Amino acid sequence: MSGLRIALLANLKKNAPHRPWEPNDRWAELDSERTVEAITSALQEAGHEVTFLEGDKNLYQKLQRGRFDIAFNICEGHQGDARESQVPAILEMLDIPYSGSKVLCLALTLNKPMAKRILAYRGLPTPRFQVLENPYESLDSVLRYPLFVKPTCEGTGMGINGNSMVRSEGELRHQVRWVIETYQQLALVEEFIEGREITVGVLGNEHLHVFPPLELDLSPCPPEEQGIYTGRIKSELPNSPRYVCPAPLTDTQVEELSQLAAAAFRALDCLDMARVDFKLDANDAEKPYILEINPLPGLSPGVSDLVFEAEADGMSHAQLINAILNEALKRYPHLTHRATRLVGDFALAEMAHSAVGVGK
Ligand SMILES: Nc1ncnc2c1ncn2[C@@H]1O[C@H](COP(=O)(O)OP(=O)(O)O)[C@@H](O)[C@H]1O
Ligand SMILES: [Mg+2]
Repeated sequence: MSGLRIALLANLKKNAPHRPWEPNDRWAELDSERTVEAITSALQEAGHEVTFLEGDKNLYQKLQRGRFDIAFNICEGHQGDARESQVPAILEMLDIPYSGSKVLCLALTLNKPMAKRILAYRGLPTPRFQVLENPYESLDSVLRYPLFVKPTCEGTGMGINGNSMVRSEGELRHQVRWVIETYQQLALVEEFIEGREITVGVLGNEHLHVFPPLELDLSPCPPEEQGIYTGRIKSELPNSPRYVCPAPLTDTQVEELSQLAAAAFRALDCLDMARVDFKLDANDAEKPYILEINPLPGLSPGVSDLVFEAEADGMSHAQLINAILNEALKRYPHLTHRATRLVGDFALAEMAHSAVGVGK
């Protein structure tokens, strides 16, 4: 196998275009240099030549100048409510193959209400919700308190804090106003699901491999976070929750979560990888609800949920990264033969024990 020329595309926190009027957590979802270095080493270990390019306004020219076989894309984007789609759109204009999900999937999943509408259409369980354009709009009478308020188009806990769960109309109006004013976007109001928090990683395309579920135990976190996986915990206190993988669940629960994660992956047209976040309703026999699907899950060694889940399956960070690349290569017939063996025993066809085939 000869190595590929890979453009590793990411948005680094340190390169973010800081503007003084923006909220402190504005760039929380961007990547660290450590993550980019780890992905670079993983791809180099498999014999590829890797060039990191910042996914900024000059990306089009930088890509035109380089002669790349494929892009490994983890760009979250800088602005616009479909910002995760911008780099895939550029890559398609330039006819450059790339890893991960495409334009439509990345636009839909960044918009939580849009993704929830599709999940609901497919009969997949997601909390009942309403989108509010202003703090005075009347609330749908089917919604029951407590409710949860979050921005419609953010990730990484942005706009989620100890006040996000609201028990009264007064609290609701206050939090909706804060979200709309601070994040300059509509507010998503959902029924609050009390119970355990589980996240499930998916890898593959034709055959899906579902990783062992990871439970996020928030009980060791500061009480003011109210048992919610807030932006502050995600960005400032990542060591305060307990990450338990495999999560202590019955075989039936694991099977149900795996089927739901795979079905959500199919419903949103994800490619190569994704992570599906669930809450298990403590008041209804731990019925699982899908909160959201992340087609660009974090890939930081020692930090990201998907990486922990892969490790629990015996897959190293380098193997995970190369497995994602190999999945993408299958879409490009002229590159297929250049898949790496570094993934070795983890070739997806061999992952029989938790492979799930779910039709469209
Ligand atoms: N409807 C809900 N009920 C209970 N907790 C919720 C709900 N929605 C979000 N949360 C809490 O907020 C966290 C972040 O919400 P999520 O929708 O996953 O957004 P993000 O994109 O920031 O991860 C969740 O991990 C969970 O702790
Ligand atoms: Mg989430």
